[in-house]
Amino acid sequence: MSARILDGRSIAQEIRREVRLEVAELTKRTGSVPCLATVLVGNDPASTTYVRNKVRACEEVGIVSVRIDLPADLSQEALLHEIARLNRDPSVHAVLVQLPLPPHISERRVLEAVLPDKDVDGFHPSNLGGLLAGSPLFVASTPLGILELLTRSNVTIEGKHAVIVGWSVVVGKPTAFLLLQQQATVTICHIKTRDLGFHTRQADILVVAAGKPGLVTGSMVKEGAVVIDVGVNRLADGGIVGDVSFSEVAEKVSLITPVPGGVGPMTVAMLLKNTVQACRLACGAAGRHGVELVR
Ligand code: GUN
Repeated sequence: MSARILDGRSIAQEIRREVRLEVAELTKRTGSVPCLATVLVGNDPASTTYVRNKVRACEEVGIVSVRIDLPADLSQEALLHEIARLNRDPSVHAVLVQLPLPPHISERRVLEAVLPDKDVDGFHPSNLGGLLAGSPLFVASTPLGILELLTRSNVTIEGKHAVIVGWSVVVGKPTAFLLLQQQATVTICHIKTRDLGFHTRQADILVVAAGKPGLVTGSMVKEGAVVIDVGVNRLADGGIVGDVSFSEVAEKVSLITPVPGGVGPMTVAMLLKNTVQACRLACGAAGRHGVELVR
């Protein structure tokens, strides 16, 4: 294997140390302790694990977390009511509704109900639009984590061809706009893209977020590329693999993220950073010009 591994765990740990200091400084200066409310509807095992990890990470850096677990058969109206209550609560600075939601609830309707100032997931249309305009209050944690992973690993983005496989609002679209903001040339591929390999072989930076194990094979990447695997696919034996055939792709590329231990820990670290920013916004310690998109 020739690729260097992009170790998301250790970079995320570094960010968590920084966030812990930021929390202490903010609390000392303003008297406010950042607070994240996580809302989980139902008991999907993967979502339950993600929420548990987020709550634990909050505790580790001194962020208060309020965990709201609701039954799977909760009505959409009742969920919207709960979100409205969190929006009004001045002690809650950040609100995260874990996805996916049960099929009888409209995700769009729910995500639109979260106050943009508390929308640490960056999924509200005003924050997605803000990203397009270059000045969102919040950007989704996974795309932010990918950008941070690249910049902290000294990967030059400007002028590179970035190919994104996946067009979700959670990962694909915001990642494409973040990388465009950094002056990459961006191609977005998706389920209807013909000859996916033709496009992925053009990539200097390849981000795969399609949710299909083994989708990207060794013949689909360029020598020396940087590969970010966002896939989290659970196998029958309980193991977790990404969307990229790790061993054969690692033979050809220069940098690659493992699954697990690549993007996942970065998502949690960036959520913590966003929560501190939400607290700053709430107590007037931050301007309303939006996040600084590193460049
Ligand atoms: N489900 C999968 N990824 C995410 C995420 O980043 N945020 C939320 N809220 N739900 C998710």
